[in-house]
Amino acid sequence: MSEGTDRIEALRQQLRYHGYRYHVLDEPEISDYDYDQLLRDLVALEEANPLLITPDSPTQRVGGPLGDLFAPVRHLRPLFSLDNVEAEAELDGWEARMERIIGRPPGGFSCELKIDGLAVVLTYEQGRFTRAATRGDGTTGEDITTNLRTLKSIPLRLFGDPPRLLEVRGEVYMPYPAFEELNRKQGEAGARLFSNPRNAAAGSVRQKDASVTSGRDLGIWVYQVGLIEGGPPLKHHSEQMAYLSSLGLRVNAASAHVADLEAVKKYIAGVESDRHQHEYQTDGVVIKVDDLAEQQELGYTSHAPRWAVAFKFPPEEQVTMLRDIQINIGRTGAATPFAVLEPVQVGGATVTYATLHNEDELQRKDVRVGDKVIVRRAGDVIPEVVGPVVSVRSGAEQPWSMPAECPFCGHPIVRPPGEKVARCTGGFECPSRVREWLFHFASRGAMDIEGMGYKTIDLFLREGLIKDPADLFLLQPDQLFGFEGWGEISVRNLLNGIDAGRDRPLARLLVALGIRHVGGIAARQLARRFGSLPRLMAATAEEIASVGGLGQVIANSVRAWSIDPDNIALVEKLQVAGVSVADEQGELDSLSDTLAGITIVVTGTLVGMTREEAEAAVVARGGKAAGSVSRKTSALVAGENPGASKVQKAEEAGVLVIDEPRFQRLLTDGQSALE
Ligand code: IVH
Repeated sequence: MSEGTDRIEALRQQLRYHGYRYHVLDEPEISDYDYDQLLRDLVALEEANPLLITPDSPTQRVGGPLGDLFAPVRHLRPLFSLDNVEAEAELDGWEARMERIIGRPPGGFSCELKIDGLAVVLTYEQGRFTRAATRGDGTTGEDITTNLRTLKSIPLRLFGDPPRLLEVRGEVYMPYPAFEELNRKQGEAGARLFSNPRNAAAGSVRQKDASVTSGRDLGIWVYQVGLIEGGPPLKHHSEQMAYLSSLGLRVNAASAHVADLEAVKKYIAGVESDRHQHEYQTDGVVIKVDDLAEQQELGYTSHAPRWAVAFKFPPEEQVTMLRDIQINIGRTGAATPFAVLEPVQVGGATVTYATLHNEDELQRKDVRVGDKVIVRRAGDVIPEVVGPVVSVRSGAEQPWSMPAECPFCGHPIVRPPGEKVARCTGGFECPSRVREWLFHFASRGAMDIEGMGYKTIDLFLREGLIKDPADLFLLQPDQLFGFEGWGEISVRNLLNGIDAGRDRPLARLLVALGIRHVGGIAARQLARRFGSLPRLMAATAEEIASVGGLGQVIANSVRAWSIDPDNIALVEKLQVAGVSVADEQGELDSLSDTLAGITIVVTGTLVGMTREEAEAAVVARGGKAAGSVSRKTSALVAGENPGASKVQKAEEAGVLVIDEPRFQRLLTDGQSALE
């Protein structure tokens, strides 16, 4: 008994402390999930020892104490919290409990998104917005009317035929884009960053100056009636929501009214799979018995309605210890810091590593080794360190700075003035860089070599079989047999995959080579214009810059890449290994004669293609593209706003002037289009 008493008291103390940090200071130290876990433990212990329940236990009220910033407001109806469920089986248990009370399963459910923001209560008298309050302890909240008046999604006057008195509940939230923008500004101003949109929303609402709230782009979703007096007789929660919507209040469109628990489960699965499509945070689904009479029959426990539950998604943020900060060298040599964490469950997976984005971001957040940090993993997004929990620092935490030398190859790490990233200067000698480069080279967006993941790359690097991408194409079957897990079939599959990589279009090879600033679109333009890698490498910066307006940055980068002896050797090696460095002439050949002997000048803007594309299309068909009109010009293609002097010159010289549709016919039908 005394052990139980001690544990209960310890849990209460922890819950009070964390409740205070969350509700009063807006600076939580533990995740909601951990908080809920403590609360669950306490509820279970108290249920087993009902005599130990005291009126001041955190289980006996909803939420924490009030801050003294704003005037207290007593809600017209108390706000209860919701019981949480985390598994389908618990939903079945919930329904069974209700069936025991009302003698049948409920007749239907309302399913809603659980919005992760700040709960508020709005009051309308005779259709006028008269008050807004925070939830506070469930009975009394804080008056935030002035601040919430600034939210454009809160009507100051209701539409239609409003009731005499209306109290509604809803969630104020901050959309992700606004959150990111706010943190960017906070960072620039050297102010404290918000760890998530919910804290940002809470911080924005509890402002002494309403103009600050006004600038924060907050939204609201209304999800529950507290009290209606003098309104239409409504029998279902879903009808109430439709009514609130008709009054001009913002009700979330993802809500659905469904017939049974099976349909509830389907709704949950659907919502969970696209929970990241919304521009606001959701942390679960709230399921409510739809029939208000059934709700009344079911009633409340000491802290929650029996007719509603919250199905919680796995938490996407957790607090854990930052063991170390290490760097990774990417395929361009960029040094990126990442976090090594005390393993923690986040978003349904164990997370041990998380990105810290870049050096500046890490310094801005002042993350230190040994810190307790908030880790976020949202959907497929790479886990990230949101920031440190500064309030629990012991003083032993170590600030971090970028190492002077690469831990993989020992070459200096250099960050040129004005550049955003530090880079390893080891080039092809840096094993980390080569590893990332090989991975990128073989990836789907580049050479698409099946079977070349990190595991295989690591094995080949370890065994000294490859040093650069060209080595892949020189691999021999007998070099591969005998490694653990590599039988005849896997060797054959891999070699087939590599073989298929020999004939990829030039644009893919350009992407694979990882020339800075050359992405998919630029690569396609370069391939179309130059046709082969040696021709591109021989081109001048001006020629490259003029391709479809690629510009100087790309041109300089391609030039710098092309004259690097390592790259020149690599291209030669690729050719020796049988990798195609030019596009097949097949398609071009079949076109190549259609415009032989024809010279075209293009002026003005074409709708369907750029001028460069038009010229390239003529060249691809064996014709010539010239910059100015002469007697030798076969036709002047005049797009929108053509150059007047060109048109005049063409007319003087008796040169045919054609419009874009006729030019298109010229491309498809050949010279007959000029007759
Ligand atoms: S209904 C008696 N509906 O979740 C009904 N709550 O853990 C009480 N929440 O304090 C709440 N979305 O801040 C309800 N669609 C929704 C909700 C929702 C978010 C929050 C709300 C409440 C907490 C309950």
